[in-house]
Amino acid sequence: MDPVTNPFAPGAGTPPPELAGRAELREAVRVAIERVRRGLPAKSLLMVGLRGVGKTVLLDRMRQDAEGTGIQTLRVEAPEGRSLPALLAPQLRQAMLRLSRNDQARDLAQRALRALAGFAKSLKVKYEDIEVGLDFDPEPGLADNGDLEQDLLALLESAAAAAQKAGTAIAIFVDELQYVEEEQLAALVTALHRTAQDQLPVVLVGAGLPQLRGRMGRAKSYAERLFDFPEVGPLPPAAARLAIAKPARNQGVDVTPEALDAIVHETRGYPYFVQEWGKHAWDVAATSPITLEDVERASTTAVASLDESFFRVRFDRLTPAEKRYLRAMADLGPGPHRSGDIASRLGREVTSLGPTRNQLIAKGMIWSPHHGDTAFTVPLFDEFMRRIMPGSDWIA
Ligand SMILES: Nc1ncnc2c1ncn2[C@@H]1O[C@H](COP(=O)(O)OP(=O)(O)OP(=O)(O)O)[C@@H](O)[C@H]1O
Ligand SMILES: [Mg+2]
Repeated sequence: MDPVTNPFAPGAGTPPPELAGRAELREAVRVAIERVRRGLPAKSLLMVGLRGVGKTVLLDRMRQDAEGTGIQTLRVEAPEGRSLPALLAPQLRQAMLRLSRNDQARDLAQRALRALAGFAKSLKVKYEDIEVGLDFDPEPGLADNGDLEQDLLALLESAAAAAQKAGTAIAIFVDELQYVEEEQLAALVTALHRTAQDQLPVVLVGAGLPQLRGRMGRAKSYAERLFDFPEVGPLPPAAARLAIAKPARNQGVDVTPEALDAIVHETRGYPYFVQEWGKHAWDVAATSPITLEDVERASTTAVASLDESFFRVRFDRLTPAEKRYLRAMADLGPGPHRSGDIASRLGREVTSLGPTRNQLIAKGMIWSPHHGDTAFTVPLFDEFMRRIMPGSDWIA
């Protein structure tokens, strides 16, 4: 079929034509934000899930939902190596500039901008990457201690006070939260804990890899009680079918039930793969309906395309030792695997592999569902590793 009208959208953070199977999570976030706006208790939500399950697009959609109801939203993505204060400051400034156009909230929003000036100036020494426009002079003693925990709290308090005055709330959307340094996570947790106690309207909606939950717990022991950690997983079969059938139908194209079943089977319902299979099945099909044979032919090109992009970009960031470690894991199957089993597959001692394992966790390639267990963060990565490093030469 015409590739020009192909509705499917594989890609990191690329919005899908149909955001299937996430209505409950969107509703949970809507309720939490609306409660916070009204001064009612609600937990912040941190969504955890593997690579490619749709965390980023869900976060973006939730943000649009919130903006549609007049919420002041901040949106940051935490890449490796940037500080949280540096990421938050410009977004918070934008929100306060918007609020300062509100007659009721103007004075408090301007005070928050003064807090931001103190925050940026005093923390610049420690977090050199803070770059933010300063609209007002700092107010001595306001968010300018030079201590992240105290200053972030003072900053969020002043921003939330302005939002409250305007009858709205501040919702902070943070993607890739697992990359934030523990010390900065701790400051954020403390600040949110305090603003919640004071019934101030600020809420965090985060997303990250599954290790986020443990990281939060280590940053502050009470974090696991303060937040909900809903899992974003593969789509249930009905949702995966809808994710394919509906966008196709919108273009006047049908997909046979057998073809849909095959896509569900091949993709295990993982959203990235669903988009990839949808795209390729569309491209190989000559006419409507898309049939089982089309999907079977599409599987070859879909896998090749994943190997070139989704899997490949991650593989290319690995050192030879890290590749060998993952290859040994893959040899044992999808996982999770015991560290001891991985080590013996490599003919090595567990302790000597500790540094490699830690690097892989820091890079977001693997995580530990339970103590001593190791699992891939990228779905179906074991199959990819066996394709890209066939044979047994990798055993040193
Ligand atoms: N609910 C959904 N229904 C259909 N397709 C989806 C859904 N969620 C995400 N997708 C598709 O899956 C792909 C991956 O989405 P996204 O980048 O948001 O995943 P992610 O979890 O943020 O991945 P990563 O951990 O690598 O950042 C995109 O192509 C997107 O269009
Ligand atoms: Mg993402």
